[in-house]
Amino acid sequence: MIDLLDELQRDHTNMAALLKILEHQVHLVRKGKPADREALRGIAEYFCDYPDLCHHPKEDILARRLLAKGADENNVLAKLPEQHEALHDLTKAFAETVGGAGDAKDDQALAEAAEAFIDAQRRHIEMEERYFFPLARLALSPNDMTDAALELVVREDPLFGHSSEPRFEALRESIMESEKRAS
Ligand SMILES: [Fe+2]
Ligand SMILES: [Fe+2]
Repeated sequence: MIDLLDELQRDHTNMAALLKILEHQVHLVRKGKPADREALRGIAEYFCDYPDLCHHPKEDILARRLLAKGADENNVLAKLPEQHEALHDLTKAFAETVGGAGDAKDDQALAEAAEAFIDAQRRHIEMEERYFFPLARLALSPNDMTDAALELVVREDPLFGHSSEPRFEALRESIMESEKRAS
C-alpha cells in the first residue's frame, strides 16, 4: 500500500532542501554577490510544478477525509485549501520576480521576495508536520488511505523522482553542491 503520509513527508524534506539552497542564495546577495539565477529559476519552476500540482492536492484530499470524520478539533484544516491557494499565488509571484530580475539592483528585490517565500513555505510545512500529519496518522484508517490514494492522479516528482526531467539538470547540481556544503 502506498503510504501517502510518508510520501508527503518525503516531499517536505525535498522542499526543505530547496528552501535551504534559496536561503544560501539570499545570503550571497546580501553579501553583495550575484545570485545564481539558474538555480533560482529552477526552484521557482519546481515549486510551481510538483508541490502545487501534486503535493497540495494530495493534502487537500486527506484534509477532506479528516474533516468528514470531525477530527479537526482546532478548526485548522478547513482553511487548508485556502492556504494552498495563497501559497500558489505567492509562488507564482516569486517565479515572476525571478523571471524578471536582471541586474544587481533587482537582486535585492529578489532576495526580499525569496525571504518572504521561504518564510511562508516553512511556516506552512511546520504547521502540517506539527498538527496535520500527526492527526492524519491517528485518525485515518488504512482503508481511508487506500480510498484517498484512489482519488489521486499519480504523477512522479519531476525533480526528485526516479526519472527526473532534464529541465532540472542545473538544479540537481545545485542540490549536490548544497549537500556538499552541509557535510
Ligand atoms: Fe500543504
Ligand atoms: Fe505539505
